[in-house]
Amino acid sequence: MKIGFVQFNPIFGQVDKNLARIEKLIGHCRADLLVLPELCTTGYNFISQKEVLALSETVQGKTVNYFRGISQRTKINIVAGFAEKDGSKIYNSAVLVRPGGKVDVYRKTHLFGNEKKYFSPGNTGFKVFSVGRVKIGMMICFDWIFPEATRTLALQGAQVICHPANLVLPYCPDSMPVRALENRVFTVTANRTGRENRGGNDLKFIGQSVIAGPDSRMLSRAPVAKEAVSIIEIDPALADNKRITPENDLFRDRRPAFYKGIIRK
Ligand code: ACM
Repeated sequence: MKIGFVQFNPIFGQVDKNLARIEKLIGHCRADLLVLPELCTTGYNFISQKEVLALSETVQGKTVNYFRGISQRTKINIVAGFAEKDGSKIYNSAVLVRPGGKVDVYRKTHLFGNEKKYFSPGNTGFKVFSVGRVKIGMMICFDWIFPEATRTLALQGAQVICHPANLVLPYCPDSMPVRALENRVFTVTANRTGRENRGGNDLKFIGQSVIAGPDSRMLSRAPVAKEAVSIIEIDPALADNKRITPENDLFRDRRPAFYKGIIRK
């Protein structure tokens, strides 16, 4: 299976331009699964509810339809972040769009910084979806810092965890190999580059998109400030083997009776 990330610099509020850029970047790629950044068609640094309302769309809207079109033409399964409108709520969401047109949605569980002003906390929970015979999980940016997110997906059988991101803190790129190792899964973090200085909130995105393997190896890592498309070949079945030593299986060796504290509110 060929999986990869697309790292680029979306322009705030320019949905059509961002979609065209995405199509240019991936239109000629050969891959089975590509991951794009969080909020990759709208930009990230919203400064009013009016802006979020104006730029958000339903899953049936133009943005997801555009992804459907690219997916159909290229035969690539696409995971991408977008601002999702659903009734009176707006979510920071990711879609998994397949060449056949089927779409699944994940809504960001752990909102970061000013997102709390503009988005509703996700209500989908962490679910696993199929791409052919491969089990895919989704989480968005700051979700990574809660190990429960990756774990919940891995315990449901996720082999590849897709992670659209707009990282501004420095910790994630070096940490994803640990998330991959402690669950023995593949992780694909697609971050953005660039800067959005709006309404007194100056955000610099750190690039460094990363693919990590179940043995903690960093299989690909993008530069800080450049656009990058990276596609690598993996064997997703490696993620089914949770063995660390002949005597140790990461999942069978768990002792949930002693973990009760982590589900206490
Ligand atoms: C983030 O969750 N976008 C940092």
